[in-house]
Amino acid sequence: MSQTASLPASSPPETSSGTPRRGILLRTPIPGPVAQKVVADDRRFLMTTTKSSPIVAQSGSGVWITDVDGNRLLDFASGVAVNAVGYAHPEVVRAVREQVGRLSHFAGTDFYYESQVRLAERLTRLTPGSFEKKVFFTNSGTESAEAALKLVHWNRQRSIVVGLLGAFHGRTMGSLTMTTSKPVQRARYAPFVGGGMHIPAPYCYRCPYKLEYPSCDLYCAKILKELYFQTSIPPDDVAAFLAEPVMGEGGYIVPPPGWHRTVKSIVDEHGILFIDDEVQAGMGRTGKWFAVEHHGIVPDVVTMAKALGGGLPMGAVIFRKELDYTTPGSHSNTFGGNLIAAAASSATLDVIEKEHLLDNARVQGEYLLSRLRELSERHPEIGDVRGLGLMTATEFVTDRRTKEPAVAFRDRVLEEAYRRGLILLPCGRSAIRYVPPLIVRREEIDEAIEVVDASIRAARARA
Ligand SMILES: Cc1ncc(COP(=O)(O)O)c(C=O)c1O
Repeated sequence: MSQTASLPASSPPETSSGTPRRGILLRTPIPGPVAQKVVADDRRFLMTTTKSSPIVAQSGSGVWITDVDGNRLLDFASGVAVNAVGYAHPEVVRAVREQVGRLSHFAGTDFYYESQVRLAERLTRLTPGSFEKKVFFTNSGTESAEAALKLVHWNRQRSIVVGLLGAFHGRTMGSLTMTTSKPVQRARYAPFVGGGMHIPAPYCYRCPYKLEYPSCDLYCAKILKELYFQTSIPPDDVAAFLAEPVMGEGGYIVPPPGWHRTVKSIVDEHGILFIDDEVQAGMGRTGKWFAVEHHGIVPDVVTMAKALGGGLPMGAVIFRKELDYTTPGSHSNTFGGNLIAAAASSATLDVIEKEHLLDNARVQGEYLLSRLRELSERHPEIGDVRGLGLMTATEFVTDRRTKEPAVAFRDRVLEEAYRRGLILLPCGRSAIRYVPPLIVRREEIDEAIEVVDASIRAARARA
């Protein structure tokens, strides 16, 4: 049972199995006095970015964050889908400590790191496709996107990359060219890098063609060939098709069965490469190492970041070996695959394997989805519940019939949730995403659902 800010702190409740359950523990309102000061100073000294909730973290353990006022908060945001194995996992901490005491940086692109080679080898085995692959390490998701875009342009010597409306691939100029999840991300930045084109996303809840799956016969995939390739997009000028396997920032949108296979067969006809952006959905979050595995296609290039580094900045691009550069200097960086980040990544992969976190993501993901569906039966503001594994979301609407996005209502729910000690993040226009660490347990999901339930009621009462 979560406590409200007005209740005194008490000892943590027990789970039915007898394991100590820490539970949300609120000692001050959120934000508390120390957090308020940090937030005010942050506003003074730091550039405006995307901050949505005034939570100031001090430490973390498992799925729990302790803030600077001593409040214990339940985290269903995972540092934006980063902390797959939970905060301060002892194996990751040990690996980082050992590495930092030995060597932090030597420039893995100009010299050699054994740990990078081992990690790269492992990633080539984990990613789909039995062909030979190579790896380029980066420091973030956007850098992975940039590297992938350069690689496909260099290889194909074609000028166009086709992406999806509503997608998110990063905020540097190349990746931003392909990012279209919100106008604010693009406003005042045009013209973009040449060659980025988009088609509508397979967003069944708001089908752009007002069709229904499966009677639509995957028109949203076939239109690439039937309309775009006949009009605005000359297919032989297209270097690559770029898509997230589950659209993340755009609203946790899961493409319908068959969409990926249909698009892949269309692009294959023209020698167009398929780039799979696993930055948010990868590393086990959906119950498979890479979410594209649910869709039954093998991409030519996979980008990743976020959870790969176990909390440290780390990204990678994994691609068919024959796409590798033939001239040294065509692409490189300084920090990519930094030794500490590589140690954290290897330890994170070990933990995912040893603790069977793919299975946990699948099992707990199904449970979380079922609990969210239950909530939608009680709360008419929830228009849609969707997800894959532990990548789940509820979309809020003012009216289930018109499906008008309930943006202000969603924002109130987020606020009521953090006030009750649950950390959540928005996505899409009016959705909330639920992305706990992959180690999450059933009782933690129950506690989160209880808070979401109370938060929706409170948001309604404030309307
Ligand atoms: C699918 C996807 N690609 C790329 C990015 C960009 O990653 P980063 O913020 O590390 O640059 C994100 C970030 O949210 C993402 O979700």
